[in-house]
Amino acid sequence: MAELVLGIETSCDETSAAVLSIQDGRAHLRSLVILSQDVHRIFGGVVPELASRAHLRTIGPVVGQALLEAGASADDLTGIAATAGPGLIGPLLVGFTYGKTLAWRRGIPFISVHHLEGHLFAPTLEDPDLAPPFVALLVSGGHTMLLHAPEWGTYQLLGQTRDDAAGEAFDKVAALLRLGYPGGPVIERLAREGNPTRFRFPRPLLGGPASQRYEFSFSGLKTAVLRAVQQSDDLARDTNDIARGFQDAVLEVLATKTAQAAEECGVATVVLGGGVACNRALAESVRRSVGQTVRVSVATPRLNTDNAAMIAAAGAWHMSRGERSSWDTEARDNLPFPGLVSADPPIRLSAGTT
Ligand code: KG4
Ligand code: ZN
Repeated sequence: MAELVLGIETSCDETSAAVLSIQDGRAHLRSLVILSQDVHRIFGGVVPELASRAHLRTIGPVVGQALLEAGASADDLTGIAATAGPGLIGPLLVGFTYGKTLAWRRGIPFISVHHLEGHLFAPTLEDPDLAPPFVALLVSGGHTMLLHAPEWGTYQLLGQTRDDAAGEAFDKVAALLRLGYPGGPVIERLAREGNPTRFRFPRPLLGGPASQRYEFSFSGLKTAVLRAVQQSDDLARDTNDIARGFQDAVLEVLATKTAQAAEECGVATVVLGGGVACNRALAESVRRSVGQTVRVSVATPRLNTDNAAMIAAAGAWHMSRGERSSWDTEARDNLPFPGLVSADPPIRLSAGTT
């Protein structure tokens, strides 16, 4: 009999619910509802208290709509997965408590899911043959991480950002250019029209010592963009070119380091996940950098920005191994990544690196 798993995601400013059916170990997306909270646009960023209140108002109807679109009722569910963190604690509590309570009332299994592990599972919904070993680049508004996954559930951290996340850099640069929030989609659109040679921004931590080869830093790049904005005598004329120069710098850093990691770890698959993976130029850049022998798996934008389908997919995998979260499990804004181990030692280093 097919399993029917409800996923819930409320870690930031999207209220989302999804229903997955699992048959013979394969997940099929039956419904996905994502309600984005527009209220934050006028503030230029997410206001936690407003986000919590909006989730409270909408979580019930969003779950109801996901069940309706799946042609299912709560009685049909065989398990519930909800994001436990990381994220904003108020918003997390709303979806997590809702999911846990519904599972408890129905007497069905409940599993808490780490938001970033959810992003890792997103491409499996459209690419069911995707399987480890792979290298993953997770790029969102809060994180920038390179991982090596020898198997699902085991993630070696190769490197991460020292300061701003990649998505955060897109958002801050968009604010400097007065393009509104979130910044990624609009910068991607304007960069397409921009001249790639007018603004050459630094490629932070590229070509430095081997010990920094998987580390990222985007705050200096943001300052370089600020300087260009201040020096511009016609920002309307320069905006597309600055957006292009900035995006090219970020993508070159992300793609080069990802390709190097794929080569060093000896994998034939690279996974891109998180909101910044919506950027089509990023996927193209990574494809160019890794070459034809490495497959790049990236989900469509709807599954890359925050959504409950990825949470249901990660949760279903954990439940298929018999894992359950106890009723006293709590949401945590700084939840550690489950299965994350340091990269020491089993990455295969190529000759010449230290
Ligand atoms: O994963 P996500 O939806 O939320 C977090 O978990 O943070 O990522 C949101 C981030 C934002 O910073 C947004 O600007 C960025 O993803 N983003 C993009 C694009 N679409 C969304 N960045 C670059 N290009 C895009 N097309
Ligand atoms: Zn996310």
